Amino acid sequence: MSSPTFFIRTYGCQMNELDSEFIAGSLVEHGLAPAAGIEDAEVIVLNTCTVREAAERKALGLLGLLARRKRERQPGLVLALCGCVAQAKREALLTQVPELDVVCGTRRLHRLAELVQGVLDGGPRTSDVAEAALPELGLERTQHPSRVKAFVAVMRGCDNYCAYCIVPYVRGREVSRAPGPIVEEVHHLIERGVREVTLLGQNVNAYGRGLEPPIDFAGLLERVAEVPGLARVRFVTSHPKDISPRLIEAIGALRPVCESLHFPVQSGRDTVLERMNRKYTRAQYLDLVERLRKRVPGIALSTDLIVGFPGETDKAFKETVSLVEAVRYDGAFIFKYSPRPGTAAATLDDDVPLEVKQARLQRLLALQDAISLEKNRALVGQRVAVLVEGSSRKNAERFTGRTRGNRIVVFEPCSERVGEIVSAEVLDVTPHTLHGRLTQPAEA
Ligand code: 5AD
Ligand code: SF4
Repeated sequence: MSSPTFFIRTYGCQMNELDSEFIAGSLVEHGLAPAAGIEDAEVIVLNTCTVREAAERKALGLLGLLARRKRERQPGLVLALCGCVAQAKREALLTQVPELDVVCGTRRLHRLAELVQGVLDGGPRTSDVAEAALPELGLERTQHPSRVKAFVAVMRGCDNYCAYCIVPYVRGREVSRAPGPIVEEVHHLIERGVREVTLLGQNVNAYGRGLEPPIDFAGLLERVAEVPGLARVRFVTSHPKDISPRLIEAIGALRPVCESLHFPVQSGRDTVLERMNRKYTRAQYLDLVERLRKRVPGIALSTDLIVGFPGETDKAFKETVSLVEAVRYDGAFIFKYSPRPGTAAATLDDDVPLEVKQARLQRLLALQDAISLEKNRALVGQRVAVLVEGSSRKNAERFTGRTRGNRIVVFEPCSERVGEIVSAEVLDVTPHTLHGRLTQPAEA
């Protein structure tokens, strides 16, 4: 009998992408085989996100279509839903969607394949959304589409309770992994050809709380940076309140650690920051930017911004605009505020009309594009060090890679150089991409 085939659709953040790699690996271990596409699959897993309503709606919309496919033409189709929507809605999903077979919570990933197998073997529909900390996952997982780069989870959950954010409710309390297994995982990835790792956590700067012997995130970076063969280390996400002088020093001093930091500001207005429960002021944030740039000249800074948080007046929004102008980020992700049931902000009046949120979003997107374009233009004619990843998804005739500052560079094909750091001359730029030409190899 041929193996049942599976397909995973992933929504949301990089943690979910990583989790999907583990799920794929564990389904293969259970004897399933990857399907060519969603249409061919006999088992479909939706790994969901609930950070904004739109993300949740997308996943549940697809679930509705798949339920119909199961009713109308594929009664044997096994449907599983995991990730943050699973954790938020729990068993109720099984009642709401009779075609759904498995609901698996964010801390039960290690059981997903077993739950799917149970259904394939004729067992009942089932859910597991228990809240105990996720145990150490095995090292076997399917490779990231680029074998050059990989994610490594260093901690899960979040204790910050930003007023708008659902994450602490669906991912649970902060739990750090011990450094030993993290370093072992990095070794394992490097043996498989990986050159760059991104350490993941909802708030990596809080890494180490509760671990014995004591270690902080800078200490973890030191351990990871020593792994032979590792060319680059990145990490996301950083909460500005937890960026310590030791971390700034580590970014400046440890060679593999890229000069790049994603540390979301969310708003430029103190009263909004306070209502968001962010625990820093605009002045403290700007001071942090100054200290980072002083110790790590040329560091690429990026942020997340929310527009239309309850009570965000025009004047408040202008302060976000002026902060973006002052910092001149290298990149920004900008979101319209979306109330999430159960969070503190959901009790506030969502008083900024959708059209105003939309206009503010457009304004910031245009501002950031202009800044990114100006910054990229300054690179024309210069050489940048690029880690070659492989062919570009948008244009199979071009190759792509990234600079240490995380800028995407597109250049001519060079299959023999995948995984190497090469030097490229920047010829032309857009706000989000550098177009270049390879020069001589350059380890950097
Ligand atoms: N509405 C809009 N954006 C949100 N984010 C988190 N929660 C919400 C919400 N309720 C954004 C924040 C965070 C990023 C991952 O998503 O900017 O940094
Ligand atoms: Fe979405 Fe947040 Fe869950 Fe990631 S942790 S999948 S961003 S809700």
